[in-house]
Amino acid sequence: MSIIQVESIMREHALHARAPYEPDYEDGSAFCNGRYVPIDQGAVPITDPGFLHADAAYDVVTVSRGNFFRLEDHLSRLEQSCERFLLSNPYSRDQMREILNNLVAKSGMKDAYVWWSVTRGTLARELKKRIDPGRYDNGMYAFVAPYFFQAPDDIRNRGFNILISKRYRRIPPKSVDPTAKNFHWMDMKLALYEAGAAGKDWAVLVGTDGNLAEAPGANIFIVKNGELFTPAEGCLEGITRRSVLELAAELGVKANLTTVTPEELVTADEAFTCTSAGGIMPIGTVDDKQIGSKAGAGPITEQLHNMYWEKRWSGWHATPVDYSAAAKC
Ligand SMILES: Cc1ncc(COP(=O)(O)O)c(C=O)c1O
Repeated sequence: MSIIQVESIMREHALHARAPYEPDYEDGSAFCNGRYVPIDQGAVPITDPGFLHADAAYDVVTVSRGNFFRLEDHLSRLEQSCERFLLSNPYSRDQMREILNNLVAKSGMKDAYVWWSVTRGTLARELKKRIDPGRYDNGMYAFVAPYFFQAPDDIRNRGFNILISKRYRRIPPKSVDPTAKNFHWMDMKLALYEAGAAGKDWAVLVGTDGNLAEAPGANIFIVKNGELFTPAEGCLEGITRRSVLELAAELGVKANLTTVTPEELVTADEAFTCTSAGGIMPIGTVDDKQIGSKAGAGPITEQLHNMYWEKRWSGWHATPVDYSAAAKC
């Protein structure tokens, strides 16, 4: 068995061929200020505290072979993130389903990255208004772009070369709740640039407690003695992480939500990161040390990787996109 070449399948397989779309929507679509526009015309008001102060929540769902994956789970998570950050989406859940469907339909993309955010909205000038979240008019912005792989086929084949960040710690959960999907990315971005400068592909960060937290935009798993281990806390409760836990249960592989130390990662039999933006990504090396006895994905990682895509493409947690909606919006 080997890793399914997902990126080349998406590029070449007839079931991934793009549906008809207007030429302006070649690069994608956006929903801003209540209107559908080509993605390069998408804009947010410059004084929105979402932009100024990261005062916002967001989520990302993906589409492959013309189906949303776990759409309801992503809609629920965004609602929870809004609740935790005292935000209120001006659009109902039914309206969100319709807007996200319309955006994908307008792009014609069968494999898509679907991003949406609820922002605090217009800037409040008076102090009284500034300190009362109920007195802002929250905004909602969304876009659809081509499906995005954190690790494309070639990197998934050989495995991610990972740096455990030496310079940055994940922002503490008591500062910004990592289970609410948020814009506080500077720790993760700087860790990524640190990894790039060290000649690595990606980073992982430990929390202020010294245990592994997560990777920029992804959760982390290790495999040891046939069991899975993933951080229980200090990270986003990723929807792909949830899918991995379901797949592991199906395979009869025990999964432990616990603390994972950097040392346990370096000495793991196998390891991988996982995210909506690319699925399951095998780790090849950590701090230059090879994970497992050979390069590339270990057997459990490979099985999970392939099951994830095979099941998605056969309708697992799928909501079909209605491409005929493009003509009506
Ligand atoms: C910080 C962080 N952790 C984990 C993930 C993975 O979450 P999901 O699997 O829901 O995409 C993401 C996704 O963007 C993220 O931003």
